[in-house]
Amino acid sequence: MDKTFVIIKPDAVGKAVIGEILSFFERNDLRIIELRMLNMERPDAEELYSVHRDKPFYSDLVEFITSGPIVACILEGEGAIERVREIIGATDPKKARSGTIRAKFGTDIQVNAVHASDSEESYRREAPIIFGDRIF
Ligand code: CMP
Repeated sequence: MDKTFVIIKPDAVGKAVIGEILSFFERNDLRIIELRMLNMERPDAEELYSVHRDKPFYSDLVEFITSGPIVACILEGEGAIERVREIIGATDPKKARSGTIRAKFGTDIQVNAVHASDSEESYRREAPIIFGDRIF
């Protein structure tokens, strides 16, 4: 079964919408098979966002994801990676389709409520940062 990795970011945790976001996924036949609430360590955040290392917004991104507790999970379901990307909506909440998680809970392109792996390759790199290699 296909799997993907999702982070509920500090803004959404702060808004107390963890349950609502998880239920979006569950209502769409995505099963939560791993779940953890934690404060991300800086080196882990730098690894998570390593593909953006050269972008001007990189340090703000690392700062934001380490600014408070997050909830990380692994979701399982058919076509999980693509379906989760659809359910969460475009990176910029203002451009996200209505009814998506980012349209409902996001603020701006950085403070955008959730992160999800964008490919199988990203999933295999990102998920072990939180859950270790035992998930594979
Ligand atoms: P996320 O899915 O966590 O993956 C990378 C993040 O970079 C993305 O969500 C956005 O929050 C952030 N991001 C992408 N483009 C920009 C941008 N132009 N300015 C600030 N942040 C950005």
